[in-house]
Amino acid sequence: MNLKKLMTSLAGMCLLAGGLLAQNVCVSTPNTSLLLKAPKGGELRILYYGQKLTDADLKTFEADWGMDAAYPAYGQDWNCMKETAIAVKHPDGNLTLQLVVDEVLTTDTDHATETCIRLKDKLYPFYVNLCYRAYNDVDIIEAWTEITNCEKKPVVLNQFASAYLPIRRGDVWLSHLYGSWANEGQLVQEPLMPGATVVIKDKDGVRNSHAAHAEVMFSLDGRPRENEGRVIGAALCYGGNYKLRVETYDNDFHDFHGFFAGINEENSAYTLEKDETFVTPVLALTYSNEGLSGASRNFHRWGREYKLANGDKLRKILLNSWEAVYFDFNQEIMDQMMADIAEMGGELFVMDDGWFGGKYKRNTDNCALGDWVVNTEKLPEGIEGLLADAKKHGIKFGIWIEPEMTNTISELYEKHPDWVLEEPHRGILPGGRGGTQLVLDLSNPEVQDFVFGVVDNLMTKYPEIDYIKWDANMSITNHGSQYLPADRQSHLYIEYHRGLEKVCQRIRAKYPNLTMQACASGGGRANWGILPYFDEFWASDNTDALQRVYMQWGTSYFFPAIAMASHIGGVPNQLTFRVIPLKYRIDVAMSGRLGLEIQPKNMTDEEKALCKQAISEYKIIRPVVQQGDIYRLLSPYDKLGAASLMYVSPTKDKAVFYWWKTEHFMNQHLPRVPMAGLDANKLYKVHELNRIDNEPLSCEGKVYSGAYLMANGLELPYNHKVDYQKQSDYASRVLYLEAVED
Ligand code: DGJ
Repeated sequence: MNLKKLMTSLAGMCLLAGGLLAQNVCVSTPNTSLLLKAPKGGELRILYYGQKLTDADLKTFEADWGMDAAYPAYGQDWNCMKETAIAVKHPDGNLTLQLVVDEVLTTDTDHATETCIRLKDKLYPFYVNLCYRAYNDVDIIEAWTEITNCEKKPVVLNQFASAYLPIRRGDVWLSHLYGSWANEGQLVQEPLMPGATVVIKDKDGVRNSHAAHAEVMFSLDGRPRENEGRVIGAALCYGGNYKLRVETYDNDFHDFHGFFAGINEENSAYTLEKDETFVTPVLALTYSNEGLSGASRNFHRWGREYKLANGDKLRKILLNSWEAVYFDFNQEIMDQMMADIAEMGGELFVMDDGWFGGKYKRNTDNCALGDWVVNTEKLPEGIEGLLADAKKHGIKFGIWIEPEMTNTISELYEKHPDWVLEEPHRGILPGGRGGTQLVLDLSNPEVQDFVFGVVDNLMTKYPEIDYIKWDANMSITNHGSQYLPADRQSHLYIEYHRGLEKVCQRIRAKYPNLTMQACASGGGRANWGILPYFDEFWASDNTDALQRVYMQWGTSYFFPAIAMASHIGGVPNQLTFRVIPLKYRIDVAMSGRLGLEIQPKNMTDEEKALCKQAISEYKIIRPVVQQGDIYRLLSPYDKLGAASLMYVSPTKDKAVFYWWKTEHFMNQHLPRVPMAGLDANKLYKVHELNRIDNEPLSCEGKVYSGAYLMANGLELPYNHKVDYQKQSDYASRVLYLEAVED
């Protein structure tokens, strides 16, 4: 590692009228630049964020005063009236800060350059480091803040954003995700209007992506477009409560929208001890001039390369037992499902909830969380027996846990009532599934050891376990830690996630190759703060394929297909009565990390054969789907009757094109969808996957130029030619494109 002080080698230097030596700090990735003005003793300001600046461009910024403070602090001048990134209370009761540049340091690591701009308060020994990590090979800049108190007594942090970014006004549109349990990842797109403030926040305490999401995109050139236009994307990498704010000030001085992102400070004022440093979560920023899909590709590449656990390894095709049998199983049933998935070509079987419990057996969801011993009434041969079955069928075995929780009906709670979150004077307030669920207090190191032990004990006893589904089905509904002192109760939300992170770090240090899924009543943990410890997330408890088209579309804005568990469910399923044909369910599931969530025993031989064919074809396209670049083509949210997207391999020699009918009117006219992301000069041979039609498509086996496909797309029939009347509702197509020589 090469550490160099960057006081002299900054991108530009000039003398301002006031006599301050102004140094411009340019933080760059291959195609983007963030430019800051860092005059020693003066205010740190943001000059620019966008397309990469050339040396000539940099010169033009030398005397520029910039858009706004890089990290507005409450207390002086304009910052009293404006929104701020940081607000504190000093030991003497003073509420003000005036941060000025002290020094700038850069560090080169293997894959990135880290720039740390040290700010200090003009009056108090109080320091704020603004840190930026700019990657050399992906267009992401990670921004975070380190806040240090060198005063004689504790300072209270009332506001402590990770970062701030001014965004030039114009016709700027915001894209973000909203939803609810079973309807996660819904795309919302809205123009940023003068005078309006957009606040996107979460207060669940445990999980944070069922409703709002901690990621946004700004389309700078009017109504959002998928493959054109300038876009800034931002993702807060934090598993706990967050708050993103977009302020549009309407006065002479503000030609920009102010974007703040960080931990949600509501009920979380943080007492920073003398000599303590508070490190905020990272805000990952990206810029693309290739539209929303371009920003997504940047997030996906960075995610796979630097964030997601095992982001470089292809995922196994699995069968999960939950929607197949719920709590109602025994060893024979598990063995039968393993045999069936193995026969269909699957590679992994995951036993979901219901396998444990000593004094209280987990046959419903109201008991036994925390009592992680095998229920030998159901599974007389224990986990050993199941592992032996999996081995016999030539597949891997995975298991479900919910280690952060307990129930009022459990041996754990009987033994350790002091381990749960509980308001001391009002008594416990169980809730969640079964109405008896309680959240363990992860601020307590003993609880951290216990939670680590849940995974560690399983893995020590049964090292062949290949996969763990880690669930979390309850929010913090009862503010109170029995571990934290009375005057530190406002640290609860933050300490909970620090505790969780410590546990996850220990697990990953010991079991780096274990595949782990972050599940939280479905899609409650799709966040880049969680994913460094997990290989994937369960996108939703709703496996209804039509609704999944919408949810997965939204989720794909920030998360790659490799991380998005997407299963073929049964029909009707636990939530909907709709009977969607298997072909459509397969075609939707195959656009993410493919799995099944269905009892194979209830499938016909024909259905099993179709799944078998899909699994073998998914194995061919798996590298393209899981490691390729996404191009979203036709949005289901545009209500044009269909949705379409594609993945293209990094070398552009292979691609997979998906098309799903989303509205179901007879003789409806649907648009033909031009493709994107191909090499215009390459020739591609087309092959339909998961074909059910009696006749092949007219494009089957034909060769088209990339240029033609990107200008015109292909004419696809809106219906399947099997049984015209019955199959027309849920038509869908998956095409595999392979580059061929002339
Ligand atoms: C909620 C999860 O989202 C489901 O997939 C399943 O694992 C259940 N919990 C089991 O209780």
